[in-house]
Amino acid sequence: MGEPHGPSGRFAPHAARELGGMFDQVSDRYDLLNQWMSLGRDRAWRRVLARAIPEDAHAVLDLCTGSGASLAGLRRPGRLVLGVDVSFAMLELAAAHQRPRGWAARLLCADGFRLPFRDSSLDAVTIAFGARNLRPLGDALAEIGRVLRAGGALAVLEATAPAGGPMARFHALYLRRVVPFLGRLSRDPSAYAYLSRSIFEFGAGPQFERELAHAGFVLLDRRVFLLGAARLWVARRGRAAGQIASVAPPAVQDARPGARAPRPLKTGEGEVAQEWRLWSRAQAGLSFILALALAYGSWLFAKSSDAMPLASWLRHVGWALGGLAAVAFAVRAALLILRGDEPPRGS
Ligand SMILES: C[S@@+](CC[C@H](N)C(=O)[O-])C[C@H]1O[C@@H](n2cnc3c(N)ncnc32)[C@H](O)[C@@H]1O
Repeated sequence: MGEPHGPSGRFAPHAARELGGMFDQVSDRYDLLNQWMSLGRDRAWRRVLARAIPEDAHAVLDLCTGSGASLAGLRRPGRLVLGVDVSFAMLELAAAHQRPRGWAARLLCADGFRLPFRDSSLDAVTIAFGARNLRPLGDALAEIGRVLRAGGALAVLEATAPAGGPMARFHALYLRRVVPFLGRLSRDPSAYAYLSRSIFEFGAGPQFERELAHAGFVLLDRRVFLLGAARLWVARRGRAAGQIASVAPPAVQDARPGARAPRPLKTGEGEVAQEWRLWSRAQAGLSFILALALAYGSWLFAKSSDAMPLASWLRHVGWALGGLAAVAFAVRAALLILRGDEPPRGS
């Protein structure tokens, strides 16, 4: 494993000190690299994350808040927003971002495994790109379950590993090669090697969902962004931490007289649909351009192949292959357009 405080010590259980130190090092370029690596989509995902929290949640914690990128979206009249992180340098950035707004979340430098809150004192917890740093995840979820009231909301946005499918190879290549390469722009490139490795370790979500259920959370919704590059889970804390909840229970009752029934959680259908629409259209456009290019190439080949030193059957095979490929891409473009813009649900 290597020395405990070196890069490999970051994977040790409860390695808050190591991770805090690592994020202290990369804080100056963190936001910029984060935006590049999410292809500029992280803001839209954070909006979906914020909308997953019920409007009437009063005390909301953004755990692993980092530079506070999710905090402004959580702001609501009368709401107390708290940001917790182990990296002091990241929290300083969060404080600096808040200054010109005339509104401030409360920022605390604390460890996610030992939150400085009373039992059942919070209405909601969000975590953006932080859950995969909390090892063992079960311990962190138990601590979140302790501070959340029964029925409180937990929304977790995380970068995830490829789950299979046609884009899985590109996704894996991106995580293994592009992310560490971009990380060279930061002060500690090993932090981006860590990022890549920790995403693979976290996986595509099934393990996380098991941990959630084991810690007594009831999964209400999940969303997939950018074909699985990131995912969002929305859960509600069951009545008792540690309860095994394999089926969704009825909405949690609030015992206070006159309390309103909990509202269904909003999960930002719009952004996901828009993202899927853009992606579908980009693919359809590319397929259409390829179909045109191949058709034109086959036509040129058919016209000039007489002058080429090729057997006649080879000439026929050549333009037939080009023609078939053109038709295949044209059909693909048509199918993508006909399929419409329906985003996939679930994973
Ligand atoms: C990848 S950053 C995400 C920051 C921010 N939420 C965002 O969306 O940009 C992960 C953050 O988790 C923090 N972190 C890691 N381990 C932690 C722990 N045990 N307790 C609290 N924060 C922790 C790090 O300091 C870092 O700021």
